Amino acid sequence: MPLSLFSSALSRQFAQMGSRIVERHRRCEGWWAPHLKNTADFISQHLPSGARVAVLGAGRLLDIDAASLISRNDEVHLFDADGSCLRAWRSGLGSDLRRRIVPRIEDVTCCLSDWQALVRDCKSVASLERQLAALRAPLPAWASEEFDAIVSLNLLGQIPLYWRDVVRARLAGLSEPQEEALAASMGELQRAHLEGLARSTADRVIVVTDSEYYFYEASTVEWRVEAALFGSARTLLQSPGVEGRAVIGKDTWLWHLAPQFIEHNDEGEIHKVEAIAWGR
Ligand SMILES: C[S@@+](CC[C@H](N)C(=O)[O-])C[C@H]1O[C@@H](n2cnc3c(N)ncnc32)[C@H](O)[C@@H]1O
Repeated sequence: MPLSLFSSALSRQFAQMGSRIVERHRRCEGWWAPHLKNTADFISQHLPSGARVAVLGAGRLLDIDAASLISRNDEVHLFDADGSCLRAWRSGLGSDLRRRIVPRIEDVTCCLSDWQALVRDCKSVASLERQLAALRAPLPAWASEEFDAIVSLNLLGQIPLYWRDVVRARLAGLSEPQEEALAASMGELQRAHLEGLARSTADRVIVVTDSEYYFYEASTVEWRVEAALFGSARTLLQSPGVEGRAVIGKDTWLWHLAPQFIEHNDEGEIHKVEAIAWGR
């Protein structure tokens, strides 16, 4: 969905989250470095050259070797809902490389604006709960474009968090059934994303995503574990082969996203990251 159709509240939310990513990266640069390098290396190893490539969740290109990717390919579409990424996409690249970039400030789910309107216009909490449980995400428009390769770049785990924040802002203190309905709708967004990748024409599909969140306190040995994948997303991600593609590479690592005492004094946060490449 192009930016013009995007609600201004949602655009602001993406821009705020984007600037938080930049600030956090500045504070935690050394802690993030292994994750950023692992992601960039995995993509370099599994992406062919000379192709028309889509990078979903390109953000500020922190986790991809952008110059190498763009110089090896004919056309690189950079997708992100945060309009402030445009500056990062233009800076640091010579005009020859810039010409090969197609900037796409879009919501990759193609439905967040509609879903947000539904929450805004809902008459009662009970009807909202029913509607959440019944929501079905569409096949994203990018899935029907002719890309040779698509990279979903540390995005899948993030997609439902923006939506979750919209719902929680409207419904403070969710009941258990409401939380379940919300989780189902979060899973819908992830299912549609993975289905879009599977049903695309791309010969090569790469997904790098958080799959679990670990919260720790340095003074105890207990961890709290939260899921980053909802509904059928976990099973779909583990799929051995889709539409004639087979798994050609897999890796997993930890991303120390928010070290205790640097981000927050009460706890730290580590993400489990999974990377999978499918190819024909
Ligand atoms: C964790 S960041 C990924 C890191 C990013 N590659 C970078 O280097 O900054 C997730 C990115 O996905 C984008 N994003 C999240 N949900 C999105 C959506 N529905 N549509 C488009 N972009 C989205 C965010 O704006 C953010 O830039």
